[in-house]
Amino acid sequence: MISDRVLKVKPSATLEITARAKAMKAGGVDIIGLGAGEPDFDTPEHIKNALYEAVEEGFVYYTPTRGIIELRKAVARKFLNDNRISYDPEKEILITPGAKHALYEAVLAITNPGDEILLPDPYWVSYEPMIQMAGGVPVYVPTSEKKGFRLEPEKIKEKVTRKTKAIILNSPNNPTGAVLNGYDLREISEICIENDLIAISDEIYEKIIYDGKHISIAVLPNMKERTITINGFSKAYSMTGWRLGYAAAPADIIDGMNRIQEHSISCPTSFVQKAGVTALTESQDSLKAMTKEFKKRRNTLMKMLNEIDGVSCVTPSGTFYAFANFSCYERDSFKFASFLLEDAKVAAIPGRAFGNEGEGFIRLSYATSMENIKEGISRIKKALKSKA
Ligand SMILES: Cc1ncc(COP(=O)(O)O)c(C=O)c1O
Repeated sequence: MISDRVLKVKPSATLEITARAKAMKAGGVDIIGLGAGEPDFDTPEHIKNALYEAVEEGFVYYTPTRGIIELRKAVARKFLNDNRISYDPEKEILITPGAKHALYEAVLAITNPGDEILLPDPYWVSYEPMIQMAGGVPVYVPTSEKKGFRLEPEKIKEKVTRKTKAIILNSPNNPTGAVLNGYDLREISEICIENDLIAISDEIYEKIIYDGKHISIAVLPNMKERTITINGFSKAYSMTGWRLGYAAAPADIIDGMNRIQEHSISCPTSFVQKAGVTALTESQDSLKAMTKEFKKRRNTLMKMLNEIDGVSCVTPSGTFYAFANFSCYERDSFKFASFLLEDAKVAAIPGRAFGNEGEGFIRLSYATSMENIKEGISRIKKALKSKA
C-alpha cells in the first residue's frame, strides 16, 4: 500500500525514547526532560497580541501563496540589516509554514533523482528523509569532536562528485552547537562556486549564539545567486507551534518552491503572518533576555558535565543543545539513553539519531529551567557512579 518513496524513510529514531519517557511521566515517574527541541519560554506578549488583533479584524482568509507582502518586506529588511544581503521581497522571498517546510520545498525544488546532496554529519534529523523523499542521495561529510565539530572544507572536497547538486549547512548547528567561522565559510563558498553547487543554509538558530558571530554564506562573493537561506520564528521568538518560517533565494528557485507551496498548502496561515511582522519589526528584548538565560544555563551545564569523569563535550557556541560524549561508559547511544531514562530518570536524545558520527554521544537540551539542568546532571552523575 505504501509507496517506495515513503518506505525508504526511516521513522524518527528518537520516537521510541521520547514515547517511553512520556509514558513513564504519565505513570507518575519523576522524569527530568533534557530532550526538548524548543525554547521553554512563552511567545512574547506583543506578538500574541498582533495575532489576536489580526483575527479580530477578520484577517482570516487565504493570502498570496508567497505570503503577505508586508511580511516579505520585513524579512527583506531583516536580511539587509542583520546579514547585509539585499533581497527583492516580490521575487526572492517566500514565507512558509515553518523552516522545516521551507527546507523540504528547497530540497524538492532543486533535486533530480540520483542527485547527491552533501550532509555534514552529525546532522539535524529531518534533512536525510527530506533528501530521500525528493529522490536524492544523502552523502555524509563527517565532522568530529576532536576538531570541535568544525566542518572542514577538505572533507567536503573529498565527497564532491559529478552528481553533487548541493550542500546543506546548518550554523549554529543542531545537535553540536558548532558555528561556522568566516574563514571556513569562504573556502566552502569557493568549493560551491568551483563545482556549481547550491548551498542550502539553515540559519534557524542564527540569533541563539554566544561565541563568535553568525555569518550567512549568501553574503560572500558570488554566493547569493547559488544560496537558499532558510530561517524562521520557532526558536528566536518561541513560536514553534505557530508554524512560520521563510526562505530567501534567487527568483527561479523561489518560483519553484512557490509552485510546490501553491499545490500543497495554498499559503501560510494568514493571522500568523501578521504576528510575524510584529516579531521582526518590534521589540527584540525578549529574544535578548532568552539568549542571556540560555548562555547562563549553557555555562552551568558545561561546568557540571566537565566534572563527570570520562565525559567530554565541545562547548556549544550557539543553539540550546550540548552534544556530550559518554562513549567511555557506553558506545551504543540508544542503550545509553535507555540507561539514563531507566536509572537516572533523565530523558535525552541518543546521538546516533543524528547520524553515524553521533554514536557515543547524547544530546542534552538546556531549553529547560536551571533547576532541572542541575538536577538532571546530578542524577546522571549518580547513576554513572553506581554503574561503575
Ligand atoms: C536545524 C533545524 N532546522 C529547522 C528546524 C525546524 O524549524 P521550524 O519549527 O521553523 O519548522 C529545526 C527544529 O528543530 C532545527 O533544529
